[in-house]
Amino acid sequence: MATPAGAATAARPVHTAPTPLEPVLTHTGEELAAVLGSLTGTRALVMTMGSLHEGHLSLVREAQARADHVVVSIYVNPLQFGPGEDFEAYPRDLEADLALLARAGVDVVFAPSDAEMYPTRPLVRIDPGPVATVLEGRTRPGHFAGVLQVVAKVLNLVRPDLTVFGEKDAQQLALVRTLVRDLDLGVEIVGVPIRREADGLAMSSRNAYLSPGERASALALVGALRAGADAADRGSEAVLTAARAVLEAADGVALDYVALVDPKTFLPLDDGAHTGPGLLAVAARVGSTRLIDNLTVQLGPRHP
Ligand code: PAJ
Repeated sequence: MATPAGAATAARPVHTAPTPLEPVLTHTGEELAAVLGSLTGTRALVMTMGSLHEGHLSLVREAQARADHVVVSIYVNPLQFGPGEDFEAYPRDLEADLALLARAGVDVVFAPSDAEMYPTRPLVRIDPGPVATVLEGRTRPGHFAGVLQVVAKVLNLVRPDLTVFGEKDAQQLALVRTLVRDLDLGVEIVGVPIRREADGLAMSSRNAYLSPGERASALALVGALRAGADAADRGSEAVLTAARAVLEAADGVALDYVALVDPKTFLPLDDGAHTGPGLLAVAARVGSTRLIDNLTVQLGPRHP
């Protein structure tokens, strides 16, 4: 009698995970184009600098829900780091990233070298405009010009139907939306909420730099945002005062900025009279690690 299909595997443990299919790893635009040419259907792009965590993977899942194929780029873009920033120290672990992406079922990874991305110093540059002059842009001059340069390049190499960015970098997301609108890049932009650790710390590749003591101090960022949100029915001044109080009371936290801004224009909402959504954004140094976080608050009287 023929063995019924599956009988030979009946003794195997039930919970054996299927062996994940490795994503196709490409390093050059040419390799990438060849792989993309063999795919049919829609594709989504998730751009990263690697050292992947659950925050990145939530972007991948959103991309998978919306497109037939997902391309993840992994590239630590030198153009967006200023002198004295952590470009050299930035955590890099391609093997670990590929294992995570294999488990997540990603099709294609694009991990170019610096020589591939910038064979010559780029002469045509993108001016990101006024939103890039405040908050992150003020502390990190040139940062957003570097970000938009690489975003434009990778969008052109991948030509996705949609691309997914995290609200963790709210100013970056707003600028990418402006880039796509102003240059008619014709790609849908999807924003994904911030993924946090159980205690509220926003996930970030840079959290790997924190010592246990610094990790505890870093909770002041989310603590400040939540204190600000709790005061939102009393207006913008109350929000900023509550948030600042948490940061000033925290040990080992050097505040860069805490600001309440219009989520689209990034202009300050500190006139006290504003009602509706405001983006409460914070940046601080914990030890030598610079961290950012944000939360949307609803200003004005609370509606039941
Ligand atoms: P990176 O910091 O690696 O982040 C890649 C993407 O993941 C960004 O869209 C970011 O907002 C998102 N992300 C990071 N942490 C997140 C979290 N805790 N929750 C949700 N999303 C999160 O941002 C960059 O790289 C670079 O500037 C890049 C766009 C790749 C250009 O170089």
